[in-house]
Amino acid sequence: MATLKEKRTCGQKCEDFGRFVWNSDTGSLFGRTPEKWVYISLYYLAFYVIMTGLFSLSIWTLMYTLDPYTPDYQDRLKSPGVMVYPPTYIEEDVILSYNLSNKASQNKMSSYLTNFLKGYNDTVQQSNLNCTRGQYFIQDEFKAPGHTKYSCRFDQSMLGNCSGLDDPTFGYNGTQPCVIIKMNRIIRFLPNNGTGVAPYLNCTILSGHSNVDTIEYFPKNGTFDLSYYPYYGKLAQPSYVNPLVAVKIHLINTREAKVQCRVVAHNIAYQDSYEPYQGKVVFQIKAPN
Ligand SMILES: *[C@@H]1O[C@H](CO)[C@@H](O)[C@H](O)[C@H]1NC(C)=O
Ligand SMILES: *[C@@H]1O[C@H](CO)[C@@H](O)[C@H](O)[C@H]1NC(C)=O
Ligand SMILES: *[C@@H]1O[C@H](CO)[C@@H](O)[C@H](O)[C@H]1NC(C)=O
Ligand SMILES: *[C@@H]1O[C@H](CO)[C@@H](O)[C@H](O)[C@H]1NC(C)=O
Ligand SMILES: *[C@@H]1O[C@H](CO)[C@@H](O)[C@H](O)[C@H]1NC(C)=O
Ligand SMILES: *[C@@H]1O[C@H](CO)[C@@H](O)[C@H](O)[C@H]1NC(C)=O
Ligand SMILES: *[C@@H]1O[C@H](CO)[C@@H](O)[C@H](O)[C@H]1NC(C)=O
Ligand SMILES: *[C@@H]1O[C@H](CO)[C@@H](O)[C@H](O)[C@H]1NC(C)=O
Repeated sequence: MATLKEKRTCGQKCEDFGRFVWNSDTGSLFGRTPEKWVYISLYYLAFYVIMTGLFSLSIWTLMYTLDPYTPDYQDRLKSPGVMVYPPTYIEEDVILSYNLSNKASQNKMSSYLTNFLKGYNDTVQQSNLNCTRGQYFIQDEFKAPGHTKYSCRFDQSMLGNCSGLDDPTFGYNGTQPCVIIKMNRIIRFLPNNGTGVAPYLNCTILSGHSNVDTIEYFPKNGTFDLSYYPYYGKLAQPSYVNPLVAVKIHLINTREAKVQCRVVAHNIAYQDSYEPYQGKVVFQIKAPN
């Protein structure tokens, strides 16, 4: 339709615009009378106040119903993962390799474990409780200082010959290396609930049977004592430490083996092929020279 209209000069356009801004005939500003502007402003002001109010109210109710001590959102994972230290992952596999004639490669392994165990230093653990062994440590109330719950002590020395105390090389200066196995935390998880039996570690040789003489566990029997369960969360138990099991592998012959360490408990799964670290960990250990 524009082609039918006569071409207007710039001056006319400016005049039209000027009238839009302030039309003295109707007394309107930008197409509305000041009175209408006041009404429309008030309308939007009220609209936004109500919207903000509703939004704040819903956020407040949400926060009010959330208990900071128990995460509302729990992981779908109900069975704990298992990790091995030193964690020397090579692509998908865990390969613990050190050279018997290379001190640096041995130090690398042992210094990893030394650092890992810093939080388990007997002096540091003195602030935690000596719990009654062999039973869950159920705490319904917050009796520890600062509205928290108590944590049980796990001393480095409980790892015996794999504690790094007598042998700071953790066996990596020879053919009896130690690895440390940790089970991940799951809030309120009770391993073997109902049986009164503690979960324990069972390591089996998948390949290289002839290269392993014996496997020793620390603490004895590879037990994760029941007193470390349940775990109530970081906020409730700020000084909680995961119980550990150390495994000393006595290597012979070519000193190369593939080992699977599984935490045995009736409510810990380990056969899910999509969760390779669920309930177990598989690693290779090699000590060439
Ligand atoms: C544990 O901590 C104490 C005090 O900080 C320290 O003297 C000691 O060397 C530590 N022990 C180990 C094995 O790191
Ligand atoms: C806890 O046990 C350790 C080691 O057995 C001991 O040295 C310490 O005195 C005990 N602490 C308490 C509070 O009983
Ligand atoms: C720890 O090692 C020493 C020396 O190698 C050995 O005599 C002792 O029996 C070991 N202790 C355990 C509990 O295996
Ligand atoms: C490794 O070190 C420990 C402690 O320092 C020592 O008792 C042991 O004899 C050493 N082993 C080898 C094979 O050198
Ligand atoms: C553990 O067992 C008790 C009773 O034996 C039961 O009340 C509780 O719900 C169980 N807890 C879990 C996490 O299965
Ligand atoms: C450890 O696992 C192996 C292989 O599954 C099994 O033969 C052995 O009995 C288990 N040992 C314990 C103490 O559960
Ligand atoms: C280890 O297992 C044996 C045999 O099942 C048992 O007699 C012993 O009391 C256990 N030791 C510990 C410290 O749990
Ligand atoms: C182990 O170290 C020695 C000396 O550093 C070296 O000659 C040898 O090739 C190394 N072995 C392996 C398997 O890396």
